[in-house]
Amino acid sequence: MVGDSQEPISFSLGRQVGIVTGGANGIGRTLCEGLAAAGATIVVADLPTQQEQAQEVARGIVKRGGSASPAELDVTKLASIEQLVTQTVAGHGRLDFMVNNAGINVRKPVLDYVEEEWDRIAAVNLKGVFFCCQIAGRQMVRQGGGRIVNIASQLAQVAMAERSIYAITKAGVAQLTRAFALELGPRGVAVNAVGPTFVSTPLTTSMFTDPGFVQENLPKIPLGRFGTPRDVLGAVQFLLSPAASLISGHTLLVDGGYTSH
Ligand SMILES: NC(=O)c1ccc[n+]([C@@H]2O[C@H](COP(=O)([O-])OP(=O)(O)OC[C@H]3O[C@@H](n4cnc5c(N)ncnc54)[C@H](O)[C@@H]3O)[C@@H](O)[C@H]2O)c1
Repeated sequence: MVGDSQEPISFSLGRQVGIVTGGANGIGRTLCEGLAAAGATIVVADLPTQQEQAQEVARGIVKRGGSASPAELDVTKLASIEQLVTQTVAGHGRLDFMVNNAGINVRKPVLDYVEEEWDRIAAVNLKGVFFCCQIAGRQMVRQGGGRIVNIASQLAQVAMAERSIYAITKAGVAQLTRAFALELGPRGVAVNAVGPTFVSTPLTTSMFTDPGFVQENLPKIPLGRFGTPRDVLGAVQFLLSPAASLISGHTLLVDGGYTSH
């Protein structure tokens, strides 16, 4: 037990094998690079259209002495998730962790969304995360344990104008995280989520280049700055490390206090 040992608490990932979805760009890319630097073997999973970027991420990791490979994945297609997990286990013998990071957004007033936008956002952010948890979870149960971290958002907790569908799906991610934690915990699988504040990435470029956005939202963050992908990495690495071995069902906010209002 952590509390009974004189050993220093470990934040290392040892030689674990893990998948990061949406790993080719933005936060996912930093997660792949950082988790590999902490010792893990990483599968950089992303859409077929993002394979050049996924290969570049994996190559960079290998060049720095780490272990990584690119893989195709569309989280909206169950067969694609199945194939990725099967392929990972065939190549590495096991799947120690899965980081469900792939996510999309369409920003619009609540009265203007159309059905196709609901379907598209929910397919990636909610259905995709659910079935990634299920399919990775089955493998982890088979092998006797594992960890899952879902990337939610501070908008899992609070609403924000022109992000309604996104926020609804992220609240769903926080709840599905509890549901999986409850059912998979007795079988050795811990399931948590991380809820970042605004982070500058390809998903959010248009926000950060709008001076009105910065002026309005920066003062709402008590710690006084927006997030970086490395802020998210710190929380994800913690949740995957031995230091977090009794944490499950939790959404760890990385929001500088935004949701404390
Ligand atoms: N950037 C932010 O401000 C912010 C804040 C809170 C939470 N998040 C969450 O962090 C995660 C990463 O966001 P980001 O800003 O890095 O976005 P991004 O657009 O830079 O990267 C998202 C990645 O997901 C991939 N992807 C999209 N659809 C996919 C699918 N169907 N199957 C597999 N991969 C798919 C994309 O190709 C891309 O590589 C998302 O879940 C997002 O909601 C971002």
